[in-house]
Amino acid sequence: MPDAILYLISQPYLSRRRYCRLADGLTRATPMVCAVVKMEGAGQSAMDALSELVGAGARTIVVQPVGLPFSDSLMAWLPGALAHWLKTCGMPDVSLALATDQSGDQSVLATIAQSAVAGADEAVPIGVQGASVDGKGWDDVPTHCDHLLVCTGPRCTFRRAGLLRDVLNAELSRHGVMRRTLVATTGCLFPCNKGPVIAHYPAGRWYRLGTPDDVSIFVQTVLVERRPLTQFVIHEVDTDHACA
Ligand code: FES
Repeated sequence: MPDAILYLISQPYLSRRRYCRLADGLTRATPMVCAVVKMEGAGQSAMDALSELVGAGARTIVVQPVGLPFSDSLMAWLPGALAHWLKTCGMPDVSLALATDQSGDQSVLATIAQSAVAGADEAVPIGVQGASVDGKGWDDVPTHCDHLLVCTGPRCTFRRAGLLRDVLNAELSRHGVMRRTLVATTGCLFPCNKGPVIAHYPAGRWYRLGTPDDVSIFVQTVLVERRPLTQFVIHEVDTDHACA
């Protein structure tokens, strides 16, 4: 029997309200100490959640992916990433295990099916009135002069991209450059091993910004003083190269 469970939610487009409701439900239903983190986007990283569980006294921790089905590529990557945390946490008496997702659990599938049947009467009817794929305010291309693509894919989020994105927003506001900077959080941009990754356009430079201090220096140097910051650059787009 584990003494703690870490739930990993992989759902990039989950609203904060629905995430909190899910996390509350899991926490209430778990008969031991637990933590819930998202694999993508804002919030605590899995590494920091594991460290907190250990700090609270947990020594045998099961990591439970939540999602039907959970991403195959994440399931392939997680054992190595969790082993990395275990190796570096400095606690030889801690043991970790990774559970499978629930897509093969017939009782979970039966519960979902029963819930669908029972909830059919409550489902919101969809009529043709108001049919549109457009939304209010989604017509104009923004006029920002700097575009930042902030990777909040699972591997950058494991490396605390969620926290760093919050720091980025705070630094942009502090320096008064928020209005001229378009910050778009993205899924995986591919050079995960060099993450957390931020791509800056139109300069065409990709950066590894690994700490809050790195983010602060980036905003001050690149976005305020308009100088290049070579020590964090991991890639420069060849602007002379024309893609056929
Ligand atoms: S998760 Fe960020 S580059 Fe892959």
